[in-house]
Amino acid sequence: MLEGIHTILREIEERRSGRAYDPDKPVSDEMINSILEAGRRAPSCGNAQAWNFIVIRDPAVREKANEGMSRGNYWAARAPVMIIVAARPDGGCPAHKLPYFMMDVGLAVENMLLQGVHLGLIAHPTAGWREEVLGEVIGLPEEYRIAAVVFFGFEGDASHLSEKHLAQEQIRSPRRPFEEVVHWDRWQL
Ligand SMILES: Cc1cc2nc3c(=O)[nH]c(=O)nc-3n(C[C@H](O)[C@H](O)[C@H](O)COP(=O)(O)O)c2cc1C
Repeated sequence: MLEGIHTILREIEERRSGRAYDPDKPVSDEMINSILEAGRRAPSCGNAQAWNFIVIRDPAVREKANEGMSRGNYWAARAPVMIIVAARPDGGCPAHKLPYFMMDVGLAVENMLLQGVHLGLIAHPTAGWREEVLGEVIGLPEEYRIAAVVFFGFEGDASHLSEKHLAQEQIRSPRRPFEEVVHWDRWQL
């Protein structure tokens, strides 16, 4: 459909939520800073910038934070970089009474993922964690919520992955068809 029209960024096309990290190949501070910078440059409703990024660097803190991940996210323990994104639910703009703080966070996270891909990393957002455990580990004030936990690192050996996850490494996740999600002028049944 878009043949010959290269309007989609390489990073958007290549991004995928990979799970096979190389735990021994560190991500430089420059790379981490560029990911954070990409996040804070995201647009936000009323420029509220509801996002806050907690970068886990101390190995002892990381070990405890790993325990806050859900069992299905066992693979995340091998990712060299873990960034917790926190926001106040009342920290976004109040339009339409929608939770725009999550929109702010989502836009920031996508920027971060794309910068990660740009740097040759795999980047994976998650919602599978126990907020009370992670909140305690990082000393999150109670008016904040954890909205996302994102992992970054170089790709490595996949042999530790479950069969299901190993299979997912070989494919690209499908998308709902273009025609199903796009409506022209009016809602089409
Ligand atoms: C908000 C959000 C939460 C997610 N939570 C998890 C998670 O806890 N564990 C996981 O393995 N993947 C998680 N993912 C990754 C999705 O499964 C993935 O984005 C989706 O299957 C599409 O695949 P792709 O990112 O490779 O294109 C999450 C993605 C988003 C955006």
